[in-house]
Amino acid sequence: MNKNETINKLAVFASGRGSNLKSLIEAQKNEQFKAKIELVFSDNINAKALSIAKENNIFTESLDRKNFDNKEDFNKAILDILNRYKIEAIVLAGYMRILSPIIVNQYKYKILNIHPSLLPSFPGLDPQKKAIEYGVKVSGATVHFVDEGVDSGPIIIQMPVPVLDNDTENTLSKRILEQEHIIYPKAVDLFTSGKLTIKDRVVIINNI
Ligand code: GRF
Repeated sequence: MNKNETINKLAVFASGRGSNLKSLIEAQKNEQFKAKIELVFSDNINAKALSIAKENNIFTESLDRKNFDNKEDFNKAILDILNRYKIEAIVLAGYMRILSPIIVNQYKYKILNIHPSLLPSFPGLDPQKKAIEYGVKVSGATVHFVDEGVDSGPIIIQMPVPVLDNDTENTLSKRILEQEHIIYPKAVDLFTSGKLTIKDRVVIINNI
């Protein structure tokens, strides 16, 4: 990733309800970042995220993993789509599959993800449930670059959220999600306007 390198064409990947996609679309409309959400991709043809994209006149593409013999072919087909739309960077917003190395390598430090915990605590599935069961007093949300591991790439922004005594997975998830909707557009802005550099695995926010 080069300092000052700006990114214009984004693809958002989403498998489900798409509330982060919705907040990113709003943020783009409010000019919180300059880059354009060119494409929404889903591995789930019934994802609500796809209808949100269509309502907002954003191109959509979806592929069903069941129609491919193996993971590599599926990911190659995704890469073909990304090349066809000349996508410069990917924003994962509730995309429930692990991207294969062919995509991660082509888009090195150009893929963002949001995760509902303070990483490196509780990577993977059900982080809010795990946070409650573990008994942590603070959890939160993390935006990070995607590497080949699970939720393990360099951290861009984190927002803490207290865990209350009477929290359920549902109530904690809701409060974390409110913060996700605030920090993800901010991270997309910092990233797409070329304000981030990475040293070792530490992300530095440069004031240009
Ligand atoms: C969010 O909690 C996000 O952090 C996680 O998946 C969920 C997606 O929610 N990666 P939504 O589809 O954006 O509403």
